[in-house]
Amino acid sequence: MNTIIPPTIDIHLSGSDLRGAMEQDVRSGLTAAPKRLPPVYFYDDRGSRLFDEITRLPEYYPTRSERSILDAHAKDIARRSDADTLVELGAGTCDKSRVLLDAMLSTGRLERFVPLDVSDTTLWEAATALSEEYPGLAVSAVVGDFHRHLDLLPTGGRRLFAFLGGTIGNLDPGQRRTFLIELGGVMAADDCLLLGTDLVKDRSRLVRAYDDRAGVTAEFNRNVLHVLNRELGANFDPERFGHVARWNEEDQRIEMWLRSAGDQHIRVADLDLELHFGSGEEMLTEISTKFSPDALAAELGECGFEVEWMWPSDGDEFLMTLARPVA
Ligand code: SAH
Ligand code: TRP
Repeated sequence: MNTIIPPTIDIHLSGSDLRGAMEQDVRSGLTAAPKRLPPVYFYDDRGSRLFDEITRLPEYYPTRSERSILDAHAKDIARRSDADTLVELGAGTCDKSRVLLDAMLSTGRLERFVPLDVSDTTLWEAATALSEEYPGLAVSAVVGDFHRHLDLLPTGGRRLFAFLGGTIGNLDPGQRRTFLIELGGVMAADDCLLLGTDLVKDRSRLVRAYDDRAGVTAEFNRNVLHVLNRELGANFDPERFGHVARWNEEDQRIEMWLRSAGDQHIRVADLDLELHFGSGEEMLTEISTKFSPDALAAELGECGFEVEWMWPSDGDEFLMTLARPVA
């Protein structure tokens, strides 16, 4: 491998497609009780930058913890998967992908990297940097939604599908099931899934990871209101919504809410939608489910995957799972 191959980018989310989905999601979410918004709209350019900042916060352990597992075991993962293609769902800045790419390079099999994300600028920047850092690597970036575009991913070769960052925990149980079944459906018999999940732990440590002292997570949470103002002509005053992070014991998840600081009337001009927020009313913006290894293995089993290996981090903070679709 020595010549730089320019990256390609496949755009499955055109402006109008994304907008149509956003209009529908926002209308149904804001007219539900309690009000809610889907997390995918956090990640415009500013949102992706804020998330990148979150990954370096002292309170936000998941990124460091997941990375430590990869640092210790990426070679084993590469060897077991025997893949020539790394497909990464929700790849973002592709920081951790490098650890996997290095390990796959060391097995001598690495040919192609296929990062998929909704955040087009972040993805393109990462794809360009990676194709320069890894001469000979074919980088085929895909701008798309992992809920809708899995069947458009390039096929061929032996693929390792990575879904890192605990992002699967941002899906509710029904969405996880649909996602895993769809994913199994596009995977070939010798493809593998590498799944990073955050584990249940001390509740105060969990809450702090989503409510940092510097207020970056709060700003990230409010960013979705900036997106609605810009994209849909809404008139939210983001400063009048407070960030709330709370552990939901029953559903084993951190929930992020935005709480209205007073009685507010909001107009979403492009949807011709008038909304009322009572003082203290909360809107759900994100869930981050925490798992136990047994429950995760059972869930994967129900969705047609067989666990090959699990690597917990030191202190059992985070878990990496390698699974294969059952024939
Ligand atoms: N994998 C990275 C980033 C995790 S943050 C890490 O582990 O640090 C979640 C990423 O998923 C963001 O980059 C966001 O843009 C992307 N994302 C969120 N919802 C998505 C969706 N529905 N389809 C595709 N990408 C999505
Ligand atoms: N996948 C990340 C997680 O669940 C996403 C995330 C981290 C997040 N911090 C956040 C989403 C704050 C919304 C708000 O850990």
